[in-house]
Amino acid sequence: MKALVLCGGHGTRLRPITHTSAKQLVPIANKPVLFYGLEALRDAGVEDVGVVVGDTAEEVCRAVGDGSRFGLRVTYIRQEAPLGLAHAVLIARDYLGDDDFVLYLGDNFLLDGLTGVIDGFRRDRPDARLLLTPVADPGSFGVAELDADGRLTAVEEKPERPRSDLAIMGVYLFTPLVHEAVRSIKPDPRGELEITTAIRWMLERGTRVTSHIVHGYWKDTGRVEDMLECNRLVLESLETRIDGEVDDATEITGRVVIEAGAEVTGSRLVGPLIVGEGAVVRGSYLGPFTSIGPGCVIRDTEVEFSIVMERSSVLGVPRMRDSLLGKDVVITPAAGQPRAHRFVVGDHSRVRLG
Ligand code: G1P
Repeated sequence: MKALVLCGGHGTRLRPITHTSAKQLVPIANKPVLFYGLEALRDAGVEDVGVVVGDTAEEVCRAVGDGSRFGLRVTYIRQEAPLGLAHAVLIARDYLGDDDFVLYLGDNFLLDGLTGVIDGFRRDRPDARLLLTPVADPGSFGVAELDADGRLTAVEEKPERPRSDLAIMGVYLFTPLVHEAVRSIKPDPRGELEITTAIRWMLERGTRVTSHIVHGYWKDTGRVEDMLECNRLVLESLETRIDGEVDDATEITGRVVIEAGAEVTGSRLVGPLIVGEGAVVRGSYLGPFTSIGPGCVIRDTEVEFSIVMERSSVLGVPRMRDSLLGKDVVITPAAGQPRAHRFVVGDHSRVRLG
């Protein structure tokens, strides 16, 4: 059993973070969202992973390497343009050979892992299996329809009038039969080869496409709110570990991780939260569900329910929450007169003043 992990796409809903960074590498509790997926695949017994990369190939390769740190063998497959999930399967034909495989979208986050799902597929070996979960906004996803006996009867991509509330999650299990499907289908009106179309092709030919309903937590981390929500959830199960320096004037409540080389002085920390390696926190309040990345500087600031990525500085901000800051961001008080907000923000940035 192999895995095909998709790390292409433009990540338009996470701009400006994705102007310079792959959406699959945005950190949740200071670890890229993609790593949770790779670890889940490894824990389920997968050893060989093909990673499909696009414009952000270099950064993804740098982060994942040859996969040995995860106990995986990683092979990179270059997709010249984001032409759809079925297109990614098409170009991975040689790599996948005649093996069964898990198609895994690198920005998906599942709390319950993949072991049960992959074991179940190995046992029953249908031609394909989809993971479904009930959602409030099915029109934003692929949607599946089941008959009275729970058998999968139809699938539709982002329908205007969804016929069920069952979203197709970004984890699919396939036998090599899918290769014939992706070769046979036509692109959708946007020019993309949809995996949903390939699944419909399989259903129409009477092949055994089954589904598995997942009730555990799942997010397609395409938006800032989703990232913050996943961050909150992962931090919920954090265990206290203080490897960095914390002075006596600092008060800590709740579960907190302070990584080695971090320094916290004269501050109040209310967990769950994590402070990354080498970060400096002075005279600040860090509230629940906050991840401060490695090398950040937080001074005279109050921050909660936020993700601050590596090497960013937040100085003198009275209250910051529900925020996602990229790497090397600097927020400081404006010096001199007139006292005014001064901005240098990149394309597609969003600033909300309280
Ligand atoms: C893709 C699939 C969609 C699926 C979703 C899950 O959509 O096309 O069927 O429900 O992933 O994350 P995308 O997120 O690429 O818009």
